[in-house]
Amino acid sequence: MTAPSMTTPAPDNVFAETVTEVEHYTDRLFRFRITRPASFRFRSGEFVMIGLPPRTEGDRPVFRAYSIASPSWDDTIEFYSIKVPDGPLTEHLQKIQPGDTIWMRKKPTGTLVLDALLPGKTLWMISTGTGFAPFASLVRDPEAYAKFEQIIVTHTCRNSDELTYSKTLINDVLNDPLVGEMADGRLHLVAATTQQDSPLMGRVTTMMDDGTLYEQLNRGPLDRADDRVMICGSMAMLKDVKDRVEAMGFVEGANSAPGDFVVERAFVD
Ligand code: A2P
Repeated sequence: MTAPSMTTPAPDNVFAETVTEVEHYTDRLFRFRITRPASFRFRSGEFVMIGLPPRTEGDRPVFRAYSIASPSWDDTIEFYSIKVPDGPLTEHLQKIQPGDTIWMRKKPTGTLVLDALLPGKTLWMISTGTGFAPFASLVRDPEAYAKFEQIIVTHTCRNSDELTYSKTLINDVLNDPLVGEMADGRLHLVAATTQQDSPLMGRVTTMMDDGTLYEQLNRGPLDRADDRVMICGSMAMLKDVKDRVEAMGFVEGANSAPGDFVVERAFVD
């Protein structure tokens, strides 16, 4: 149990919320849900700082940026996390259980939001590892289907086990009473591994270069006229994907000036 041995009141800019659900996928990955404060508003795709209350006198809480994996309409808040051995936050966070307290700063932010993109026909969400988390939020948001005709999510991990969360989630979305009807025939997942045999293997950058990505989807290459792109993964992955879309003429967007693509790193590593 990670329950604090003392109870410290949360600072004014922090919500103290209760863990409601925890699911472990591998020894490196898990997801959890917490209660949602009534006053907490965010846009699907944003991130927020989370931490654990101090466990002993003088213990300073460690906060890390986490993408919110649940959509903006949901009653509880979901996060998808890596477990870093000796990571200042995740070494404790990976042990949380329902009933434990999580601290969450009150102000969400981020660029992987629909408002930061110009109108288009197809929305691409390109992710590796826990970079799938913000897309878990966006694919469950009806606004994404109102704004785009097609949504293509790519998720690349080292091993098949690491694809369980994304594969299960996309399948659940397609069968969901609220979003399923909108997503039917319009939401596509391209799931690939790089270090273990699976039906589709290779880095997304390699698949962009050799056209495998587009063959999987029976369509032509990315085109600035109709396609918009969101990218989330490690620093190296962001750079490599960004270089490719920029070479195709795509212009980076921000909340203040929407564009053709947006980038956010999967923070905790
Ligand atoms: P690879 O196994 O070839 O390194 P990680 O767990 O290290 O963040 O990696 C998650 C996934 O992202 C892995 O499949 C990894 O492939 C892939 N990856 C790592 N770096 C890049 C990159 N620069 N461009 C594209 N994919 C990458």
